[in-house]
Amino acid sequence: MSLIALLLGAYLLGSIPFAIVTSKLFGLEDPRRYGSGNPGATNVLRSGNKGAAALTLIGDCLKGWLAVWAASRLGFSPLEASLAGLAAFLGHVFTVFLRFNGGKGVATALGVLASVDGQVAILCALVWLAVAFTSRYSSAAALSAAAAAPVAGLIFLGPQPSVLVLAAMAGVLIWRHAANIRRLLAGTEGRIGGSKKPKA
Ligand code: G3P
Repeated sequence: MSLIALLLGAYLLGSIPFAIVTSKLFGLEDPRRYGSGNPGATNVLRSGNKGAAALTLIGDCLKGWLAVWAASRLGFSPLEASLAGLAAFLGHVFTVFLRFNGGKGVATALGVLASVDGQVAILCALVWLAVAFTSRYSSAAALSAAAAAPVAGLIFLGPQPSVLVLAAMAGVLIWRHAANIRRLLAGTEGRIGGSKKPKA
């Protein structure tokens, strides 16, 4: 298989919008119509259905993990495998199935990290948990974990090109949280498990 075919396959895999799929399965409203409007696990949780939110988290996480794992199994180098992870992440964020307007990529990025290096993923997950439990802001937790990802990559992988791939992923993730950052600064950001009320 060529690298282009791998990246295209990973992009399509990442494009599966699990928030929409699980919401349909559970008979819930489209998550793009309530809360933050984001098709992601945090927003699906605002529907009050924890099962649908958990399934969204698992599905979005798994597709990132699978892209990197499959690339490695197919004999691609660690750098090419991490690029496959980036392609899956970009598929989630710019999904072809939602007119290129997808999610923020947090769960998919975690899956990619878990497949690239378990230690990097654990450190980022711990940062996410620490900030989430203290602040109850999913976005602040995601932003902190994203900032930690390239640092964790440097610590556990050393200075190698895959770390730049992780940094690019973190950069896009932070950029996708621009509206969350504005709400955090304005004090209007919704907390984890908050209401479905749309935000300004
Ligand atoms: O996983 C996305 C999270 O960081 C923010 O979600 O719905 O509050 O914009 P949301």
